[in-house]
Amino acid sequence: MNPTATATRRTLSTPPAPESSFPYNRGSLLSVLDLSIEGVSRVLRRATELEFMNPIRRNTILAKRRLALLFYESSTRTRTSFELAAKALGADTTLVSSLSSSIEKGESLKDTGLTLRALGAEGIILRHNSSGAAWLLEASTRLPVVNAGDGMHEHPTQALLDLRTILAHFDPETRTCQPERINRPAERVSRPMGPATTVGSDTLAGVTICIVGDILHSRVARSNMLLLPRLGARVLLCGPKELLPEQAAHSDPGIEIERDFDAALRQSQAVIMLRIQAERLAGLQLDLDEYKARYQLTGQRLAVHAPSALVMHPGPIIRGMEITAGVADGPQSAILEQVTNGVAIRMAVIERALTAGG
Ligand code: CP
Repeated sequence: MNPTATATRRTLSTPPAPESSFPYNRGSLLSVLDLSIEGVSRVLRRATELEFMNPIRRNTILAKRRLALLFYESSTRTRTSFELAAKALGADTTLVSSLSSSIEKGESLKDTGLTLRALGAEGIILRHNSSGAAWLLEASTRLPVVNAGDGMHEHPTQALLDLRTILAHFDPETRTCQPERINRPAERVSRPMGPATTVGSDTLAGVTICIVGDILHSRVARSNMLLLPRLGARVLLCGPKELLPEQAAHSDPGIEIERDFDAALRQSQAVIMLRIQAERLAGLQLDLDEYKARYQLTGQRLAVHAPSALVMHPGPIIRGMEITAGVADGPQSAILEQVTNGVAIRMAVIERALTAGG
């Protein structure tokens, strides 16, 4: 069996075929589908507990445990937040990047993983440009592996931090995500078991979340498409045909396509903007002026069509392309909150990985 081939054969919208063996290790997080809804709640709850725990106590949880960060692709947010999260729990980390390691000399992913295991790594955080690489690494090493983004496939911790961000602004009574309504830390501390950290199949019922732009190449879009509808949300995909094939919405309940951005905005409580992934376009030519005219999130567009929607973006943002600087820095933007939420979510995911939690 070739996990990479299995993963890349999937269509954009089809959930992974059941794999009886994966994940081999109970601590692994290869896909957001590795978590049951109760498992998602456990991660959210633990993220909040760890975020507000006394740092000295927190630092003993994984004291001297060894975690390898194996990055074949560039990263700012994911790499830094995994490292800070591991260190906040007391773990030792080592970073192996493809540009400064024997990967440059041709060492395979399997041999690199086995080498890290032989050096004492107890878990591996992997970012890789090939879809399915995390499955291959886990099968080769049987270590807990956390998928920190594999090609155009999945980015499960991004979907979890996006969910935490949405829930922090979510008002269950009005079923809206209000930018000005933030469950501030003090509020979360006072009710850490409340709606911000416990989810069910109807938590986001009646809520529409729009994902806009380069859906085809986006592992963030795919992980969110696999997570948010399980919590009752309607996911509206928006983009040109070249970056959003029709089949993206086929057969998946809760996922629809709306190519008119203004119409999509009018229906949405939260909007997740995506950059065009130039590194994955493979020769595809786009008219960027036309793209901006149709899909750029501008202050005027937001004011007219979605004046109270939450604006999100996984980053990196390209100011002036998919989003204007005014919107990115504006009062509806939760972009930097998403970054901050990454540390808490990744603490919970790393703890789960190294303690083989459910
Ligand atoms: N969102 C995200 O994965 O960002 P980085 O590529 O900077 O890690």
